[in-house]
Amino acid sequence: MTRPVKPIRKAVFPVAGLGTRFLPATKAMPKEMLTVVDRPVIQHVVDEARSAGIEHFIFVTGRNKGVIEDHFDSQYELERTLADRGKKSELANLINDLPGAGQTSFTRQQAPLGLGHAVWCARDIVGDEPFALLLPDMLHHAKSPCLADMMKAYSEHGGNLVAVAPVPEDQTHQYGIVGVKDAKAKVSPITKMVEKPARGSAPSNLHITGRYILQPEIFGLLANQERGAGGEIQLTDSMIQLMDDARQPFHAVRFDGTIYDCGSKIGFLTANVAYALARDGLGTELRTELKKLL
Ligand code: G1P
Repeated sequence: MTRPVKPIRKAVFPVAGLGTRFLPATKAMPKEMLTVVDRPVIQHVVDEARSAGIEHFIFVTGRNKGVIEDHFDSQYELERTLADRGKKSELANLINDLPGAGQTSFTRQQAPLGLGHAVWCARDIVGDEPFALLLPDMLHHAKSPCLADMMKAYSEHGGNLVAVAPVPEDQTHQYGIVGVKDAKAKVSPITKMVEKPARGSAPSNLHITGRYILQPEIFGLLANQERGAGGEIQLTDSMIQLMDDARQPFHAVRFDGTIYDCGSKIGFLTANVAYALARDGLGTELRTELKKLL
């Protein structure tokens, strides 16, 4: 018999990062608004959350990020013009993408103190319920969306869940890394977590990919979290406390699709090609053009 678990209704999106790796494109525009094909990166990630059943979208923003708020609002003049011109499908798509009234919240991270601090900034909006956390830089491309897979695992196991995927051994120091009971299983209890382990000391090659389901007790730990790797308040350090000291269950959910790190130029460019190749009405023509270029 499965245990009853509190539903996951809310998702947090930390979008306060400066995007210095994409200057000058990100001088006046948030990096999350860069487009993969014709949708901003943040829209792809919100799509993933919506398709997993999330009802409330919480954005932790910063200065110069106001356009993200505008993007998830209706645009009356545009909608009126599309309606007047009979552009029915464009209008329907725009409306379909829009979260419903009261389904978005925005708060600001006032200083770049790290991912743990960004998540903590959402504590009052999340309240006393479990929530999903999606890092917008990491696009998870798969037939079955990553967060939907995690929701399925959550309904069975409850507790806290982290999506993981293998990385080459020489890259483990760039990520949060987990050790698991059964490295081949789709869902496995986590035995160890470490943020950006020194080279040669990682407990496995499974990295934390940027999709989480967390219990609200994480906020109390984040409130007192000392600075960790890179001098930042690290989410992983509070997760370790939640697992080891508070004895809450943590499971890893293996993600079997492809991950594009849109925080790097190469990841962003590759994501554009991969998403375009997979798009009806675009893929075939793009393949021909790419062949000419290569
Ligand atoms: C963060 C997390 C790390 C995770 C990574 C995924 O690191 O702290 O555990 O593996 O995201 O992108 P950051 O990319 O902020 O350095």
